[in-house]
Amino acid sequence: MSDQPAKTAASDTSTGVEQNPYGGTAATGGPKRVRTRHFQNAKRDGIKITGLTSYDQLTARIFDEAGIDFLLVGDSAGNNVLGYETTLPVRVDDLIPLTRAVAGAVKRAFVVADMPFGSYENGPEDALHTAVRFMKETGAHAVKLEGGERSQKQIRRIVQAGIPVMAHIGYTPQSEHGLGGHVIQGRGEGVKRLLADAKAVQDAGAFAVVLEMVPADAARQVTEMLQIPTISVGAGPYTDGQLLVWTDWAGLTIGRVPKFVKQYANLSGILSSAAKEWREDVESGSYPNSEHSYE
Ligand code: KIV
Repeated sequence: MSDQPAKTAASDTSTGVEQNPYGGTAATGGPKRVRTRHFQNAKRDGIKITGLTSYDQLTARIFDEAGIDFLLVGDSAGNNVLGYETTLPVRVDDLIPLTRAVAGAVKRAFVVADMPFGSYENGPEDALHTAVRFMKETGAHAVKLEGGERSQKQIRRIVQAGIPVMAHIGYTPQSEHGLGGHVIQGRGEGVKRLLADAKAVQDAGAFAVVLEMVPADAARQVTEMLQIPTISVGAGPYTDGQLLVWTDWAGLTIGRVPKFVKQYANLSGILSSAAKEWREDVESGSYPNSEHSYE
């Protein structure tokens, strides 16, 4: 939903309807608050949707003010905040306070709470219970869960209760061991499974679907087939939107960063230099000086 003048709605003040219902930030005429209908409008009008993960109020505020359309409080907090190697140990109780911090910090962005492993697989009623917790206790606007056909009943039940669901198919990190590691999905014959999963989540009522680590052409086929918007995480350019894990994108992640990530900053370098400089200043006695001391 970037601010692309050619694609934004006309400034017709005579109709009384919301102008420019998707593009840009509130400051540039976009929606005051992003809603599920803006995702649908964006797909219809060919406006790209942008998303980043966020796990705290500081980044949430920055990304919101930058006009990012949605923030995902992902279970990737497991790797990025909680110090786990995978997302599998993450619990609902871990994500509730993080999601509350993000939802409380934004004015415009749509906040999606990720349902962690073990919180929905047992069936639709378990899934609804988890989704209700996130909605009641955090102020999130939607939930996300992994799986296509296998999660169809869960998605349907949550949507029936009036809670928007963002689906997630292709590579699903919570199934890392079942999938045999970080393996690209939807290659060769695998495209049939991907298309079937995409159809299943749309039929269940998901308002959008994340496609993770699938070939660009397979993602294009899914995007052309579906009425709901597709969001790429390593699924190439032919989707309706793009999502990245913010720590990868900002150069803060330690270790391997996936091929599909373009790094827009080098935060680990910046923080490392600042920490060394400050340590040297303290050790040499040049910090604090009178400017940073009380009389
Ligand atoms: O938890 C997460 O950050 C995610 C995205 C990678 C889609 O699920």
